Amino acid sequence: MPYISTMVTDLEYNPEHFPTVVVNDGSVENLEQAKQFVANNVDALKKELGSTGAILFRGFPITDAESYDAFFSSFGYPNFTYKESLSNAVRINHTEYVFTANEAPKDVEIYLHNEMAQTPIYPNIISLFCEAAADQGGATVVCRSDNMYTELMKNAPEMTEKLEKVGVKYTTVMPYDDSPESGQGRSWRGTLGVETKEQAEEKLSSLGYSWVWNDDQSLAAQTGALPAIKTLEGGRKVFFNQIIAAYMGWKGVRENPSVALCFGDGSDFTKDYLDEIVAASRKLSYDIEWQDGDVAIVDNHLAMHGRMPYSGDRKRKVLVVLGR
Ligand SMILES: [Fe+2]
Repeated sequence: MPYISTMVTDLEYNPEHFPTVVVNDGSVENLEQAKQFVANNVDALKKELGSTGAILFRGFPITDAESYDAFFSSFGYPNFTYKESLSNAVRINHTEYVFTANEAPKDVEIYLHNEMAQTPIYPNIISLFCEAAADQGGATVVCRSDNMYTELMKNAPEMTEKLEKVGVKYTTVMPYDDSPESGQGRSWRGTLGVETKEQAEEKLSSLGYSWVWNDDQSLAAQTGALPAIKTLEGGRKVFFNQIIAAYMGWKGVRENPSVALCFGDGSDFTKDYLDEIVAASRKLSYDIEWQDGDVAIVDNHLAMHGRMPYSGDRKRKVLVVLGR
């Protein structure tokens, strides 16, 4: 993270500088002042976020879920609650809006993704707060989605043009009960916000999914064709999807990608193209090495995020808020 700014007036878009880092120069001494700082600079901060895709705030007096909730609220983003989402990660709410980032075990890597891009309902903003950093590892990885698109058009233009044209379909298997040992173990009842199979089927139809019930009461659901490359206002194209997370992280997909992924026209991805995508993301990724009290805000269209595995006795605690 090469770019350190102590004053918001220093912010200047530079594609080399990602994420933008805003460090408290000591003038912000308490939560009220932190909220005031955001309120005073909100236009410049949002403009910067719309350019680089991620801002890290360091050294601000944010210590727990409540102060984080208040700090994030100062930006004025309408809330996107976990409950209304179709996210398949298992999470625990701390305040009405703040919840745990992902309950997956510490040795599990959460691979790069745009938040909830494997569903038709996703937030525009994802914010993360590090209440307690891990002893070793546990960085949040961020990768610019516009640079991903450019890189893929350079290295695999035909496939990338096809991906833009037809989109992608995801197949996920949701258990009957939450299974927190998996990175995506939320039950179909929790994911869809329903109690019965009939209600689940109604919800799935309304979302344009197709589905199969398994003998163990789990549900295999396939989305309709979702966009995998989007054109933002102003014309920037972004790689916006969960292809990397599905390919690298979902069970059995690396061995056989077709169990979870296909192009929007039903044709299979080649492993060569998926490997090309992963290689491009590795080249373009930055690790946010958390310090206690750090807050990151990520534009969900402009940057993917993920989590490195971690270790040590200290209980890593990273909380999340989503915004529209
Ligand atoms: Fe995420």
